[in-house]
Amino acid sequence: MPTEALTLSGIDVLYADSHVLHGVSLTLRAGRVLALLGRNGAGKTTCMHAIVGFLPPRGGEIRLFGEAISRLSPEAISHKGVGFVPQGRRVFASLTVRENLLVAEQSQGATRAWTLDRVLELFPSLQERQLQHAGSLSGGEQQMLAIGRALMGNPRVLLMDEPSEGLAPLIVAEVGRTIARLKEAGQSILLVEQNVRLAFDLADDVVLLNTGRVAFAGTVDQVRDDQAMITQHLGVF
Ligand SMILES: Nc1ncnc2c1ncn2[C@@H]1O[C@H](COP(=O)(O)OP(=O)(O)OP(=O)(O)O)[C@@H](O)[C@H]1O
Ligand SMILES: [Mg+2]
Repeated sequence: MPTEALTLSGIDVLYADSHVLHGVSLTLRAGRVLALLGRNGAGKTTCMHAIVGFLPPRGGEIRLFGEAISRLSPEAISHKGVGFVPQGRRVFASLTVRENLLVAEQSQGATRAWTLDRVLELFPSLQERQLQHAGSLSGGEQQMLAIGRALMGNPRVLLMDEPSEGLAPLIVAEVGRTIARLKEAGQSILLVEQNVRLAFDLADDVVLLNTGRVAFAGTVDQVRDDQAMITQHLGVF
C-alpha cells in the first residue's frame, strides 16, 4: 500500500469566475494526521469541498491511495473511502441519533471496522440518546454524531472541517481525545482547525494556506515554535 493516503497536486478551484485555490498541493500520509490551517477565508473548506467532489478542481489532480478521484461524483468519492465531517456539523435534525448513523452506513469491501455498535461504544453519550432527535442534542453531542456518521462510512481517509468550532473547552478536549483515538486506530485524517494548539497536539504534518496558496508544508515540529511564521499566516494565538 502506498504511504500517501491522499495527495493534491497543483489543484485550482474556482467559484464561477472567482479563483480561490491556486495550485494547491499537499500530501496526507497513511495513518497520520495532517493539519490544514489558515486564516478565515484562506480556502480550507474550499479545499475539502474539492476533495469530496462538491467543487471539482479545474486543474490539477487528487489521488486517494494512488487512484485519481478528482473527476468522480461526490457519491463515487464517498464510496471510494473519503469520509467528511462538514463545518457546522450537519446532521439530520428530525432523524434520531440512531437513524442519522444508519443512513450513513457504508461498508468498504471486507474492511468493515465501524458498525453502529462500535460507533455508539466510542460515544457513550450518543448511546444513551439513540432514540432522541438529533436536533435536540447539544452542540458537542451533534459534533460527536457528525463524526460518528462519517465513521459509519468506514472511510479510508477522514476529512474534518473545524470540529472544535463553537464548542466549550471541555467538549473541545473531548473532541481532541476522540481524534487521538482514531489516529491510534490507524485512521488517516485531514484536519482543518482554527484551534491551532489543538491541531498541533494532534497533527504530524502541517500545511499553512494563505489566500488560496500553500505558504508552508512540513512537520509540526518545524512550525510549532516558529512564532513569526504562525503570526504571518495564522495571526496571533
Ligand atoms: N460559494 C462561494 N462563492 C464564491 N466565493 C466563495 C464561496 N464560498 C467561499 N468563497 C470564497 O472563497 C474563499 C475561501 O473560502 P473558504 O470557505 O474555503 O475559507 P476557509 O479557509 O474555510 O475559511 P473559514 O476559516 O472562515 O471557514 C473566501 O474568499 C470566500 O469568500
Ligand atoms: Mg471553512
